[in-house]
Amino acid sequence: MTDTAQIFSLSGAVALVTGASGALGSHFARVLHAAGARVVLAARRTDALAALAAELGGRAAAVPLDVTSAEAVTRAFDAAESAFGVCDVIVNNAGVAVTRPVLQQTEADWDGVLDVNLRGCFLVATEGARRMVAARKPGSIINIASIGGLRILSGVAGYTASKAGLIQLTRQMAVELARHSIRVNALCPGYVETPINAEFFASEAGQAVVKRVPQRRLGRPEDLTGPLLLLASPAGAHMTGATLVVDGGHSVNPL
Ligand SMILES: NC(=O)c1ccc[n+]([C@@H]2O[C@H](COP(=O)([O-])OP(=O)(O)OC[C@H]3O[C@@H](n4cnc5c(N)ncnc54)[C@H](OP(=O)(O)O)[C@@H]3O)[C@@H](O)[C@H]2O)c1
Repeated sequence: MTDTAQIFSLSGAVALVTGASGALGSHFARVLHAAGARVVLAARRTDALAALAAELGGRAAAVPLDVTSAEAVTRAFDAAESAFGVCDVIVNNAGVAVTRPVLQQTEADWDGVLDVNLRGCFLVATEGARRMVAARKPGSIINIASIGGLRILSGVAGYTASKAGLIQLTRQMAVELARHSIRVNALCPGYVETPINAEFFASEAGQAVVKRVPQRRLGRPEDLTGPLLLLASPAGAHMTGATLVVDGGHSVNPL
């Protein structure tokens, strides 16, 4: 395929985005929709999903989903299939963090983060892949990890461990699912400015962090548009098991 616009098209695809009520998830949903996919918006805050579905107009449906519940994951895929058919693009984007020094992290802190960021991604990816295999449909699973899965971020032990685990789960699934023409890749953003962290990055401490990024700026959701489309579309047909870092050079800054 050499038509450069066509290779990024998702026309005919059915995409499910977890955490579509959040900053990056809503952006990912808009991008996939603009590329032609039918988009299933999944998260717990259904009011935010309904608003996004209304904004997108046709080809979008909102489904309630708590990724920590296997039953909820099954129900969400059932609802997605009734709306649009078998999902062949899955964006595992739901994620949480608890920030405090490791010795102050409780068992509940650890379990809460790992449950969403790692176990939840496992539940969603495996349920989605089982359905693709049963339908003999090729597909693309994109796990939203973080440079925190590759480097250390202060005070978020569960988060960095979960994202490192997610990168390794990505590789494992890529190998096992290649025979089914299902690609599995990890997208690793650096710090992306969103409404939730805007205040911190405006502060002196936040500006000090920005100075450690070789490009001297934070990421913007738009910086993830091309990388997401690459992994989701036929443009990335030979990519599987990859860890795609999008961080302005932050993770390769000098020691
Ligand atoms: N922003 C950054 O700088 C950055 C950098 C690297 C990686 N990331 C990753 O990008 C992803 C999105 O981050 P964000 O910045 O957009 O954060 P955000 O705005 O806080 O969004 C997080 C999303 O996760 C969903 N979520 C949390 N727990 C869930 C659960 N149990 N079941 C279903 N959904 C759940 C939330 O939806 P509900 O509350 O409605 O369920 C929300 O939509 C995360 O995986 C994060 O680790 C972010």
